[in-house]
Amino acid sequence: ISLKPFNTFGIDVLADYFVSINTVEELKSVLTVKDYPNKLILGGGSNMLLTQDVNALVIHINLKGIDVVNEDEQWVYIKANAGENWHEFVLWCINNNYGGVENLSLIPGNVGTAPIQNIGAYGVELKDVFYSCEAISIDDGSLVHFSNEDCDFGYRNSIFKQHAKGKYIITSVTFKLSKQHHKLHINYGTIASQLEDMQVKQPTIQDISKAVITIRESKLPNPKEIGNSGSFFKNPIISKTLFDKLKANFVDMPNYPVSETEVKVPAGWLIEKAGFKGKRFGDYGVHKNQALVIVNYGNAKGEDILKLSKLIQNTVNRLFNINIEAEVNII
Ligand code: EPU
Repeated sequence: ISLKPFNTFGIDVLADYFVSINTVEELKSVLTVKDYPNKLILGGGSNMLLTQDVNALVIHINLKGIDVVNEDEQWVYIKANAGENWHEFVLWCINNNYGGVENLSLIPGNVGTAPIQNIGAYGVELKDVFYSCEAISIDDGSLVHFSNEDCDFGYRNSIFKQHAKGKYIITSVTFKLSKQHHKLHINYGTIASQLEDMQVKQPTIQDISKAVITIRESKLPNPKEIGNSGSFFKNPIISKTLFDKLKANFVDMPNYPVSETEVKVPAGWLIEKAGFKGKRFGDYGVHKNQALVIVNYGNAKGEDILKLSKLIQNTVNRLFNINIEAEVNII
């Protein structure tokens, strides 16, 4: 079976075996099948680059359902199953006037994969609304609970990318969202000016969601039209010493303080300065509006995109002495 419809990069590789599971019971029984020792867990396929045919059993997590599990006057606890599309979940929350995820509108992917890399945008990260999750242990099929603390969330990071990597399949996530929205995040980037353009004075979560959707649509390619995986790289964190040295040559280098000794630099800016923004190489290239995004215009091969990403890394390293790390999983 071709995995092209199952990854947002739109890479056409073949999988030896494929199964889509609709219940946790089905998932547990599939995990007991010993004939296929290699397994690849597939959610929304929005954070992976497939570089070769997959000699494994691909398990597509198609668990659906969203339920309110608890609430009081201020908070509502919502359990969403892993196979729910992230943006559809956000819209469901917005329609019900549950706040907290509005800044995370239009992020590709599914609910179950969102905690793995602690998705984030416009000043909010998943960890800010994550209450707990349930996962199945791949080893023995047991059900395990993870609290927010257990997940040890960091910038595009969690235990599911560290020591718990490849050990669990997240089956549901419980979110803690607000019913009265005292804390709105409108200070990041161009949200405030977008709201002004929309002539909104006292923004609701619905307005913020609309503003974020408008900004994202203007900068980021729609994976349904042009294959991509969002930011291909993470924004690097560098020492203040290196930053000060670079600043002498590149006065306009944007930066965000991380600690007394470290700053975060936008990889998109570094890649643009390295001359890659909007560059096209046949069927693949760097997006014209956001240099952090590598795109597949049609039938690009995963290996070609991987090669381009290495060229970008090497060039950025040569120019700035900074290593930029891939954010997407290379498979
Ligand atoms: N910039 C450039 N050239 C570019 C792109 C960016 O100079 O081609 C500069 C901008 O001018 C700005 C700065 O870099 O000063 C930051 O740009 P932007 O606000 O677009 O955000 P980003 O740091 O490039 C991060 C996330 C995005 C998220 C946005 C908004 C990472 C790796 N990426 O991008 O997340 O949507 O902030 O919060 O942290 C994703 O992870 O897939 C993703 C899209």
